[in-house]
Amino acid sequence: MKKLSYLFIFVILISGIKVKADEGMWLPIFLERLNYTDMQKMGLQLTPEEIYSVNNGSLKDAIVGLSNGPTPQGFFCTGEIVSNEGLLFTNHHCGFGNIQKHSDIDHDYLADGFWAMSRDEELPNEGLSASILYRMEDVTDSIIPNISDTLAGKDRSAAIGEITSRMKKAASEDGKYNVVIKSFFSGNEYYMFVYEVYTDVRLVGAPPSSIGKFGGDTDNWMWPRHTGDFSIFRVYTAPDGSPAEYSEENVPMKPKHHLPINLDPVKLNDFSMIWGFPGGTERNLTSSGIEFKVNSYYPPIIEVFGKKLEVWKEHMSQDKEVKIKYASNYAGIANGWKLFIGQTKGIKDLDLYNEKKAFEDEFQAWIDSDEDRKAKYGNVLEIIDQSNKDKSDGYSVLIFASLSGIGGAELIGYAGDFSALATFMEKYKEEKDKSKKEKKQEKIDKEVQKLKDGIPSQFKNYDMATDEDVFAAMTELYVKNIPADMHPELLVDLVKKYKSDYKAIAAYVFDKSNFSTEAKVMAFLDKPSLKTLEKDPAYILTNEFRSSLMAASANLKQGGDELKTANRLYVEGIRKMQPDKKFYPDANSTLRFSYGEILDYYPKDAVHFDYVTHLSGVIAKEDPENDEFIVPEKLVELYNAKDYGPYGQDGKMIVCYLSNNDITGGNSGSPVMNAKGELKGIAFDGNWEAMSSDIAFAPKLQRTIVVDIHYVLFIMDKFAGAKHLVDELTINVTPPPPPPPPVKMEIVDEVEVVE
Ligand code: ARG
Repeated sequence: MKKLSYLFIFVILISGIKVKADEGMWLPIFLERLNYTDMQKMGLQLTPEEIYSVNNGSLKDAIVGLSNGPTPQGFFCTGEIVSNEGLLFTNHHCGFGNIQKHSDIDHDYLADGFWAMSRDEELPNEGLSASILYRMEDVTDSIIPNISDTLAGKDRSAAIGEITSRMKKAASEDGKYNVVIKSFFSGNEYYMFVYEVYTDVRLVGAPPSSIGKFGGDTDNWMWPRHTGDFSIFRVYTAPDGSPAEYSEENVPMKPKHHLPINLDPVKLNDFSMIWGFPGGTERNLTSSGIEFKVNSYYPPIIEVFGKKLEVWKEHMSQDKEVKIKYASNYAGIANGWKLFIGQTKGIKDLDLYNEKKAFEDEFQAWIDSDEDRKAKYGNVLEIIDQSNKDKSDGYSVLIFASLSGIGGAELIGYAGDFSALATFMEKYKEEKDKSKKEKKQEKIDKEVQKLKDGIPSQFKNYDMATDEDVFAAMTELYVKNIPADMHPELLVDLVKKYKSDYKAIAAYVFDKSNFSTEAKVMAFLDKPSLKTLEKDPAYILTNEFRSSLMAASANLKQGGDELKTANRLYVEGIRKMQPDKKFYPDANSTLRFSYGEILDYYPKDAVHFDYVTHLSGVIAKEDPENDEFIVPEKLVELYNAKDYGPYGQDGKMIVCYLSNNDITGGNSGSPVMNAKGELKGIAFDGNWEAMSSDIAFAPKLQRTIVVDIHYVLFIMDKFAGAKHLVDELTINVTPPPPPPPPVKMEIVDEVEVVE
């Protein structure tokens, strides 16, 4: 694949055809050096300064990384600022967790949607943060020359850590900024990212799931798509404009830049640019890495996730409250489960193993033709291959131990929260000195209070009957897939006693445990006793499951320092082998851009997929019997009346469209922009035929699925009546071209009629 695109660029250079870049998640600071000329050729109309500038407001100031927690790391999604009052667009599936948190039987915002009709109705979201990049810097030269080439493992990390912590401190300007330094190209380069992190981000609007998640898990990862996958938030700041924790005094953010919206219809081959925070790719994964994933890594995950989803679904379909409680967890696991299945299929369909193998053979030949290369890179592939083989053996046990044991039923995870209390109580018991005993009691009391305070959040989304069935199913998987010598003693006894009836085992554990209902936990914490805790079956199991997980990970040959060094040298080597190729680093939750065009595709022989879908397609998919395909009545009415306001085009309403931009998880919610940096849509998915895209880009098949901005505004304005939000936006429409000058006509007096 890489080779293919290399050849492709070469052909373009010699033939002078318009460049059609698509692969690549590029770093903003290299825009001018690596990409700008290509982008201009493809139609970009902005200057580099208008896109990325540290001193003046530029496009990058409107791009937001969303994370759970106050640090600019692990962005789960992207968002974009779209008004000068901090309004932010992202996906519905990105807002889903927070929409769920605000929902209950009486306010089911997942089912009914949510629209704040005034500022004071906007809902704060504890923990949610919005990070905006202030500047970034290549700091490789401050790090690599100071680290010896032979330094590896912990010593290498420690030496690097020492340098980077000094740099971070200086760049934070006394805490004004939040600074992250990350390694790129497998440790060959380092970059520093300086952010402002806003922690008061409020929910403003969300369509009902029958629009925002239309098509559900059936349509997920697929085209043709008809999902209005957007939700709206607002960033607030302290009155002086600085980031601040939630407070009533806070005011809507005044951004340095917000994205204008463009209402011209999308056209095939239009320039398309996406900015955002892709989470992770492994574009340099080797053939042995692919084998490991397909044979040892994905199958156990697919099995455990599939089982859990089955149990959850059964309970969710029977009880509306359970459905709300588990909606967010269900969506997350269902998304990952389908992704792993699709990746397995994509790897096979696209024959990625052989593609990588051919590239590795070429790399090895390049190495073997030179003595210095042999000395440096000679055994790199061998080390990587061996490590993939080594870890293949024990990996499935590790996955089952972690996902069906300690990570199986929620009860087991929760019981683990009581181990600190157990430790404090043991210490109290052993202490003979009276005054010291008092101190120890204080510690116990504090821990008890902490656990009491945590009860509401533990039980808010908990349903015991559901969890009991999850326990039964997970324990059965555990027993069947993990060697007998790693089974917890208690489990062995229970399996014997109940003759492998896992439902009966679950009933026993949930009945006897002190952690399965709010009332029982409260009663236990009112009179905490070490003896009770030590007899609690969930507590015993959590400890034993943890021990077997540790054993499974100790048994596994994970490949240590040697592997890290080999990975670094592999990437260094393949870059040296192709000195004229432009390289982009793997995604790692840092700001990137991708450019390409609006494009259709041929998913298989004789089948063509167009690049837009319409509201008529939503209506065609309607199925009142199927929860995933219900269409709200109001939407049907608007469709029947063709009441699309200024958002329709020739009597049609576009819903989604496709581009060939290179994105991955974390890019969800990213702005999709035209050549002028105006918003045309919000990226929300990838397509089924190219699910292996994190491992290799497939130019002919890989597409980004975008919800068209016309549909977003139509839903806000016509469906939800939230015109006040549309009024906040800056909306551009290219004026129609002036009418052609009148042509002077010769006056013909007589018309000859031919009979
Ligand atoms: N596939 C999308 C992504 O990973 C998420 C779509 C969520 N929708 C769903 N039905 N689970 O970004």
